[in-house]
Amino acid sequence: MNKKILTALLFAASTVATQAQVYLDPQAPLENRVKDAISRMTTHEKIQVIHAQSKFTSAGVPRLGIRQLNMDDGPHGVREELEWNTWSPAKWTNDYIVAFPSLTCLAATWNRDLSTVYGNAVSEEFAFRGKDIMLGPGVNIQRTPMNGRAFEYMGEDPYLAGEIVVPYIKAAQANGVGCCLKHYVLNDQETDRFAVDVNVSDRALNEIYLYPFKKAVEDAHVYTIMGSYNTYKGVHCCHNDELINGVLKKQWGFDGALISDWGGTTNTWEAANGGLDIEMGSYTDGKLKESEYTYDDYYLAKPFEKLIEEGKIPMSVLDDKVARVLRTIFRTAMNPKKVIGSQCSEAHYDACRAIGEEGIVLLKNDKPKKEKSALLPIDPAKYQKILVVGDNATKSLTLGGGSSELKTLRDISPLEGFKTLYGDKVDYAQGYMSGRAIYDQVDPIDPAKQAALKAEALEKARQADLIIFVGGLNKNHRQDCENGDRESYDLSYGQNELIAELAAIQKNIIVVMFGGNPYSTPWLEQVPAFLHCWYLGSEAGKALVNVVSGKVCPSGKLPVTFAKKYEDYPYMKYGKEAYPGVDKKVYYKEDIYVGYRGFEADKVQPQFPFGFGLSYTTFKYSKPVVSGNTVAVEVTNTGSVEGKEIVQLYVGMEKCSEDRPKKELKDFKKVSLKPGETKTVGFTINRDNLKFFSTKDGAWKFEPGTYRLYLASSSADESHQATIDL
Ligand code: GLC
Repeated sequence: MNKKILTALLFAASTVATQAQVYLDPQAPLENRVKDAISRMTTHEKIQVIHAQSKFTSAGVPRLGIRQLNMDDGPHGVREELEWNTWSPAKWTNDYIVAFPSLTCLAATWNRDLSTVYGNAVSEEFAFRGKDIMLGPGVNIQRTPMNGRAFEYMGEDPYLAGEIVVPYIKAAQANGVGCCLKHYVLNDQETDRFAVDVNVSDRALNEIYLYPFKKAVEDAHVYTIMGSYNTYKGVHCCHNDELINGVLKKQWGFDGALISDWGGTTNTWEAANGGLDIEMGSYTDGKLKESEYTYDDYYLAKPFEKLIEEGKIPMSVLDDKVARVLRTIFRTAMNPKKVIGSQCSEAHYDACRAIGEEGIVLLKNDKPKKEKSALLPIDPAKYQKILVVGDNATKSLTLGGGSSELKTLRDISPLEGFKTLYGDKVDYAQGYMSGRAIYDQVDPIDPAKQAALKAEALEKARQADLIIFVGGLNKNHRQDCENGDRESYDLSYGQNELIAELAAIQKNIIVVMFGGNPYSTPWLEQVPAFLHCWYLGSEAGKALVNVVSGKVCPSGKLPVTFAKKYEDYPYMKYGKEAYPGVDKKVYYKEDIYVGYRGFEADKVQPQFPFGFGLSYTTFKYSKPVVSGNTVAVEVTNTGSVEGKEIVQLYVGMEKCSEDRPKKELKDFKKVSLKPGETKTVGFTINRDNLKFFSTKDGAWKFEPGTYRLYLASSSADESHQATIDL
């Protein structure tokens, strides 16, 4: 072979070889890898990677050795394996995992470091199960206590949600597992979730609802975001040009992939031009029917390919989607640093328990009548017969709830926890039954059976010298469950009446509640001790008993406001239009006055304020000291046991050119203090943090002036103030 041809061949080979290395070379700059890969893909291959190829995977490019994306639910652990193309369980035997506490529980810890622990542990389980994208966490805002999915989110305050979601995402993505922050945006109720049109002011949209997503993009560089089912300005959020191309991609510089919620895509033209990058879970006609192999019929499949081929939509639109998908693949599925991870390791159970212990909120702990000390922590020597009452003492709360449902190897119930600690002193009575139904069926409950369970509990109560009631919400339909909101602010199954009757029999009664949402507490005056536990996951029984026994001093604080009565929630004064909406249109008429912002503006006393939580010890704050742009306070543990205190910084503006809440959470720190110990807790006042979204300017704005600082143990604590001129 003559020299010239040989040289040409060698050059061609080396070019191909060098080219081949770029997109496959993990050392090469990401954008070069992306460009190189796109240059090698056919139009059809480009189309393949922007929509589902199964229930939970989107395609790669097998010919080029580019891997598919394996996705899975959910925010609290890896969902059980489903069949390739149906919602039925695949019945695998190696997909038992750790159920971590609900994200509202994580928010209730107010502990950024524990959020890192959570993100690291849960992503190790996703990695070990071979998943590249976890479909979570969720940061929709808890504007109503009726929202069936509130347990998957991080409370009513955008600042707290932002601070807690960022470490979780950073830790997960450091393991090479991408997060899929959801649901972008305004999916704050389950009623009419597929079609409700949310009307909200630009100010509330930016200050309250977009804020946690903005933090996750700017501070945690979240790899993917899930569009929500509802519409905004009449356009579905899975392909809403203004929110995705305008805000998310252009304003915030999001460079990852916008993934539709399952079945959230409704038409090709909007999906192509409205910023959707991966279409998941659609049926042939959008949601209702599914033929044998529908993936080629997806809106972003054949119909879109046709528009590209006809030149009706430029190739650049497709290439941008493909670039975002490839970036995500190279950051996860083809990331050489992606960890192997582990599943059901003791480290994960330890993390699960630690988060649960710090998320439990002690809401009341008084001396029962004629007793010398508060009822908690329990002194077992004092009691001979401890009666545990309630369906939630044994019911699995890791099952149910919808797409966040988990298949666990370990699911320690409160009753198991109490029995382990207090042995045969413990007796049990179910007290009420709740059936087991998720999504849209509800088990009918036989009133006679319910009455018999109640009678049995009251009978046993007469023999007990301590009662521990374990109830609350559960993961049934219309409790805390996807695809349906609650129907009442009151607890179900006759719990309130049962608690009142138990308390009348035995003054030593502790109420332990589970649930993702607040509820009415008509029995509160009659019970000396009350804990709210959110959902604690696999180690529930251990975490709860560690707090009740005093092994762990409770330190959780509320990420939501408990109203005395349902009508007190800020949106309620505006009627049905404000929730759940009329004719599938909902109007956020309370505007920015969500949660404590609204209770303070309305001068309505909550039952338990946002940021409130008790300890087994007590803390004293000194007078705050301002110096320059910092403020500090001395916190002393004035009790007899070690404990953790969450010092909150709220800031209000004395006078502003536009209406503002009296004060808003702008920082917080959690400190551990031994009895008698004092620590200085300081905050730097950051102007950017004090901006508001000006309605006049249609932009974030800092306004100079005098700011009032509250160093507080809850949003209602105004006893330690200072002012600062900025
Ligand atoms: C569901 C949920 C979403 C979940 C997805 C996949 O409808 O809205 O949160 O991740 O579908 O199960």
